[in-house]
Amino acid sequence: MIESATPAVPIVFKGREELVDQGVTILCQKALRFLAIMGAGGMGKTSLALHIMDSALVKDKLAGRCYFIPCEIFEDEESLVQGLIHVMKLTMQENKSKHEVLFEHLKAAYEDVLIVFDNFETPWNHGDSRNGVKNLLEKIVKCGKVSLIVTMRGPDGPGDISWERLGDESGIPKLLPVPAKEAFKAFAGNKLQSSNDSESQIDSLLYQLDYVPLAIRLSAQHVKRVPLNTLIRMWEQGKTSILTEGPVPGRLTSVSFSIDLSIQIFKIDGRTLELLSAISFLPDGIPVWIEYLPQMFQGEELDFNVSTLLDSSLIYGQNAGLKMLAPVQEHIHSKYPIKQDSIDRLEKFYRLFLKDLPRNEMDAQPKLQPHINNIEKTFKTQISSGHSKTSCISTIN
Ligand SMILES: Nc1ncnc2c1ncn2[C@@H]1O[C@H](COP(=O)(O)OP(=O)(O)OP(=O)(O)O)[C@@H](O)[C@H]1O
Ligand SMILES: [Mg+2]
Repeated sequence: MIESATPAVPIVFKGREELVDQGVTILCQKALRFLAIMGAGGMGKTSLALHIMDSALVKDKLAGRCYFIPCEIFEDEESLVQGLIHVMKLTMQENKSKHEVLFEHLKAAYEDVLIVFDNFETPWNHGDSRNGVKNLLEKIVKCGKVSLIVTMRGPDGPGDISWERLGDESGIPKLLPVPAKEAFKAFAGNKLQSSNDSESQIDSLLYQLDYVPLAIRLSAQHVKRVPLNTLIRMWEQGKTSILTEGPVPGRLTSVSFSIDLSIQIFKIDGRTLELLSAISFLPDGIPVWIEYLPQMFQGEELDFNVSTLLDSSLIYGQNAGLKMLAPVQEHIHSKYPIKQDSIDRLEKFYRLFLKDLPRNEMDAQPKLQPHINNIEKTFKTQISSGHSKTSCISTIN
């Protein structure tokens, strides 16, 4: 079961050359070979890990001693040990626990071993298993001969290990426009007709998908059946409904499923889910959140909720603000719409914000700019639903 769960190295893989090189360099150096590939669901963490494992240098150094553990099927320390024993094909011995068999093997290793813990967010966040899982990981690290790759939703690697992380503060980034387009065309195959029109339509679609690899692959699959302009119309009408394929939804066949999985694994509910809904309503996210979030939702202490959302990668930090990738935003906005009370509070906040802006345009402009789309959306929504409590909104114009 585990062998068949080890994925094949993806054939279409664009725009990650630099990250693959960095990962390979880290694994091939003498010290510190603990590599963390972090980031949002569908961003390409597993694909990157597989390409790093498949590189000539890593294969040269570690051929036959690379073990891929698909952690989404393991929930605690014990099942992880069981999984490792199975994948390493270790034989159980009488009077020895699985734990002893595993560590005797790892400590006696003569040559370097690479263990890839893929999708580690599942055991890391499951029930009360974190302590046990943390101990296991740290014991493995102490074995000396073991290099690790962990892929995980979130911004930081697990435990107190000095992980070398790929990408930026929130993990591996979205694709750049050019490789995103190469990937889209490769996934769409020869059904894609080439014309100037379709080039700009692809550019616009990929921009709207925020260059998220999973969204690119799923949208491109449809081009095999429907023309590009129909696909674009479907996106405008149904948004994330085009980001799905096949009859059985899974993390790799549906963007909505992948996002709901994060909501489930990171136990996002109650006020945290409401905050997520509010962020999905705001096109600019929450600029300078440390300053503005307490003003938006006065009387509440939301730092812990923000940290849970950052851990899940459903939002990410950028320039001191909180942002959301477009496919996540569309899904949350349609499945968990913002509550009227939150919009009322945002309207109140922005009313005061506008009132307090400096009179001088030169000073007002840089304060206003990061919020401009939020302000427009908040007041338009309130006016069209008849909830606006603002008598004069001429300040916006
Ligand atoms: N650089 C890339 N170019 C083209 N396609 C890519 C790239 N990276 C990933 N993909 C595609 O995007 C999809 C998601 O990739 P992957 O499974 O690696 O993401 P992930 O970050 O591990 O997701 P999850 O958090 O659900 O485990 C896959 O179908 C993969 O083929
Ligand atoms: Mg993965």
